[in-house]
Amino acid sequence: MADKKHILCIGAGYVGGPTMAMIAAKCPDYTVTVADINEERIAAWNSDTLPIYEPGLDALVKQCRGKNLFFTADAISAIRDAYIIFVSVNTPTKRFGTGAGKAANLQYWERCARIIAENADGPRIVVEKSTLPVRAAEMIHKILQANSNGFEFHVLSNPEFLAEGTAIKDLENPDRVLIGSMRTPDGHEAMQTLVDIYARWVPREKILTTNVWSSEMSKLIANAMLAQRISSMNSVSALCERTGADVREVSRAVGMDSRIGAKFLRPGVGFGGSCFKKDILNLVYLCETYNLPEVAAYWEQVVKMNEYQERRFAERIVRSMFNTISGKNITMFGFAFKADTGDTRESPAIYIAKMLLEENANLTIYDPKALENAKKDLDGYENVRFCNDPYEAAKDAHAVAVVTEWQEFAEYDYRKIFSLMAKPAFIFDGRNILDHNALFELGFEVYPLGCQELTHLK
Ligand code: NAD
Ligand code: UGA
Repeated sequence: MADKKHILCIGAGYVGGPTMAMIAAKCPDYTVTVADINEERIAAWNSDTLPIYEPGLDALVKQCRGKNLFFTADAISAIRDAYIIFVSVNTPTKRFGTGAGKAANLQYWERCARIIAENADGPRIVVEKSTLPVRAAEMIHKILQANSNGFEFHVLSNPEFLAEGTAIKDLENPDRVLIGSMRTPDGHEAMQTLVDIYARWVPREKILTTNVWSSEMSKLIANAMLAQRISSMNSVSALCERTGADVREVSRAVGMDSRIGAKFLRPGVGFGGSCFKKDILNLVYLCETYNLPEVAAYWEQVVKMNEYQERRFAERIVRSMFNTISGKNITMFGFAFKADTGDTRESPAIYIAKMLLEENANLTIYDPKALENAKKDLDGYENVRFCNDPYEAAKDAHAVAVVTEWQEFAEYDYRKIFSLMAKPAFIFDGRNILDHNALFELGFEVYPLGCQELTHLK
């Protein structure tokens, strides 16, 4: 018989690992097991070098692992033991068949539903932790019931809003926890079970309960609206470069309107990460499925603007360097999709690097945490080198391009970097984290994002 105080999470990734570590830390009377088919990943979770870099995660895992937090490749035994089963497997964009390029690929989720149904020896609460299309719970419930040995399954939606790099802070002190359930007495009871877990550390007024479709929808819309703000500001950055306005000043002035707010108005080389693009495309596909082409086109433009911004950054490099970078050395500072993570999934850096390589540049890449992933992303490309030291990376470079907003990039000795580089020494700050006037004084040709360049070449 399953233990009501045993939680299983299937999927030990960027979400499953940290969320379960937090639950284990806050609920010491619960047993929390995290299972994954990737044995290498599980071995890493059980080692001193965790499979993902996230500030604060090491300490949290060390605090609970082996006490009430366990990582295993054996999901089946855990399904028998656990009453509450989170599923946090990946839901990438489908690459084949109907909906290819937009719809979410639910094959991993479906596999989990089948395994749960076949191995559960009593009723279970199954929690959607992955980001899923609206009405996925209906499909999941049908699969569970069709394969069950006569037991009831209650499907809840509990989307995750953590951001990488701040995952532990976000989990510890979330803006809200969202739990969607079926509007039935059983659904309500299941929902209450989950509310009680989060209520151990999250104030009740921040635990929002809704119907299951609203919960699934809210997750997609939250990501789409965050991305939409970035795309809006990125579109303005292009206009600023032409007009003499400075996008940083515009962003500040606009964001100080309390109705708009300052967050997610930072222009850059484009948003990356495993989710924004895939979730918006998933939303677009949903709109198309429900025959709402105008709504679909509205959201799709957020992704198109992002692709334009990535392309625009690379094109500006080529244009500014006398229309050719063939044979020139370009150093990229940063490859992760954002600071404080080693994750490079959908990183704008991948697109930018490939475009520069196609222009026959020699690329050197430095990133404090993402070099191993960068190597995989650029596997098969020639003329690219990966470097563990930023100064060595900048040696003989014709240009440095800042692609990720790592704080350390702002703290380097740019006098030294200037002396190491070929002249004229170009610097393209795709994240606006450097002191542009100081760099100009040192002799650099400075290209901030979303404002005019500072150049000695008249
Ligand atoms: P991930 O790829 O890091 O982890 C998913 C894990 O699931 C992988 O380790 C994979 O091996 C495992 N898996 C797949 N099929 C399995 C199976 N049948 N049995 C056992 N394990 C299986 O993905 P992630 O970044 O953790 O994202 C997971 C979900 O959470 C996605 O739907 C994503 O959209 C959503 N999400 C992600 C973030 C984020 O910051 N990464 C934030 C919020 C929501
Ligand atoms: C995002 C959301 O912020 C999370 O709430 C959500 O849970 C998660 O997606 C998800 O569903 O996966 P994440 O992708 O980890 O989190 O990181 P963000 O901080 O949102 O950054 C995403 C991208 O946007 C990064 O490339 C970042 O550099 C870029 N960004 C962010 C900007 O270009 N400008 C900004 O002002 C903010």
